[in-house]
Amino acid sequence: MTPLRFKDAMSQQYYATAPASTSAKAQRSDWWRDAVIYQVYPRSFADSNGDGMGDLEGIRTRLPYLRDLGVDAVWLSPFYASPQADGGYDVADYRAVDPMFGNLLDADALIRDARALALRIIVDLVPNHSSDQHEWFRRAVEEGPGSPLRDRYHFRPGKGESGELPPNDWESIFGGPAWTRVADGEWYLHLFAPEQPDFNWEHPAVGDEFRSILRFWLDMGVDGFRIDVAHGLVKAEGLPDLGSHEQLKLLGNDVMPFFDQDGVHEIYRQWRLILDEYSGERVFVAEAWTPTVERTANYVRPDELHQAFNFQYLSTAWDAEELRGVVNRTLEAMRPVGAPATWVLSNHDVTRHATRFANPPGLGTQIRTAGDRELGLRRARAATLLMLALPGSAYIYQGEELGLPDVVDLPDEVRQDPAYFRGAGQDGFRDGCRVPIPWTREGSSYGFGGGGSWLPQPAHWGELSIEAQTGDPSSTLELYRTALATRRTQPDLGAGDSVEWLRAPEGVLAFRRGEFVCVANTSGESVTTPAYGRLLLASGEVAEVDGDAKVPADTTVWWTTA
Ligand code: NOJ
Repeated sequence: MTPLRFKDAMSQQYYATAPASTSAKAQRSDWWRDAVIYQVYPRSFADSNGDGMGDLEGIRTRLPYLRDLGVDAVWLSPFYASPQADGGYDVADYRAVDPMFGNLLDADALIRDARALALRIIVDLVPNHSSDQHEWFRRAVEEGPGSPLRDRYHFRPGKGESGELPPNDWESIFGGPAWTRVADGEWYLHLFAPEQPDFNWEHPAVGDEFRSILRFWLDMGVDGFRIDVAHGLVKAEGLPDLGSHEQLKLLGNDVMPFFDQDGVHEIYRQWRLILDEYSGERVFVAEAWTPTVERTANYVRPDELHQAFNFQYLSTAWDAEELRGVVNRTLEAMRPVGAPATWVLSNHDVTRHATRFANPPGLGTQIRTAGDRELGLRRARAATLLMLALPGSAYIYQGEELGLPDVVDLPDEVRQDPAYFRGAGQDGFRDGCRVPIPWTREGSSYGFGGGGSWLPQPAHWGELSIEAQTGDPSSTLELYRTALATRRTQPDLGAGDSVEWLRAPEGVLAFRRGEFVCVANTSGESVTTPAYGRLLLASGEVAEVDGDAKVPADTTVWWTTA
């Protein structure tokens, strides 16, 4: 077969018919309450100029694919000017596009085209830290101790006789101390890589700058912001020691002196006022890792942010009891603040869920083994139908609609994740979920672009491509397309803030929402349940006999009683 080129991949044959109600939904003022939001990791989505790196033009030309997939909005991970020490989460200029991704005109064209297709655009905002190449930080270092610019970051003298020890015992999330010493002897704080110095949010210039950056992108026409490390901006007064060498164990389980401090909420109240000045119901979503869903709910009180990622859900095993528990806790926590629940299974920081579910539970969200791929995919498909049946908003990470596994065997020399190089950090293996996605069966980078790809794609990637899966009713891509189209036509999917649990065999979740019923069999055995009505969709083969349904292991079924 002749290799397909980038332009060919754009042809209609890869796109299903557009869902009828796309634009009606986009115009609803509360569109975000039940929106399905697709995360694009710009480096790895589509490369328009053949340099092996994805870019904004690549994304723009493939927006029709996303519209036809049936999502409501696209969240773009950072594409700003950056030395790329952490895949763009180290921003040197918040108002510029990195040349590797294009320029501001490309961003403008992307935002406009998305609007024409009734897709919303959410951009990433990185307010906890900048790049060490940000002008403020470079000058702060150059000007030396006493420079007023040092107050915009956390510079401190060290401890010990000659200041040779870090100012406190905090560790970087990526491993190693959270402090780096500059040539003149002072230390600066970085909760992530040394190339990502933390801003000091007590300094008024920092707040002023970010309010201005918000306006810059709102004026460009974006529909919202995903706030990176939303829980980290404010540090406990005096930067006190943690007093524990078990920081990694405490993270996410306890309030830390550098995370989830109550002071962050005042920042978001101010930001909300700015957002509400703009027309079009624009939104904020918080990346806030907190110890409990109740603390996550604090970020989405009516005068703060709109949504927060539900990492408790992402971290839950494929187990009916555990899933029921996290769904209940989430809905209960969100109800009093009136915010929609959110659901997410994968993103650019965790092992893809097709691989997580292929491995035994309890290994966390960074897994280095392929596990049982067939089992993982079966569970991933079932988990997706469960997620899309829950009330609230759902996030999809690029490539999960293809059932992509993590690439667990990347050679060490191609890895780029700074967390990998810093060793013991919790996030050490994130490159595996960032491998460029396959668009076509063949071609040098399976249609990702005309050249290579910045991380090598596995040999079997073509079979998983959008081209290979399109039109195959048994494919994961067609399952996503049908599920998303069904979600638009079934009013009970996504809406509301509660579920009515139905009695179900062990290992099975069953719930009703109006005329809609979802049954998810997480057990390793097939089970018999009532056939609740007309079968809408299933992630596996379901047999109906005399009013009963035989639901295979690791399968989710959608029914309607209408
Ligand atoms: C969370 C982002 O999702 C991750 O990719 C990044 O490394 C850290 N924040 C630091 O910005």
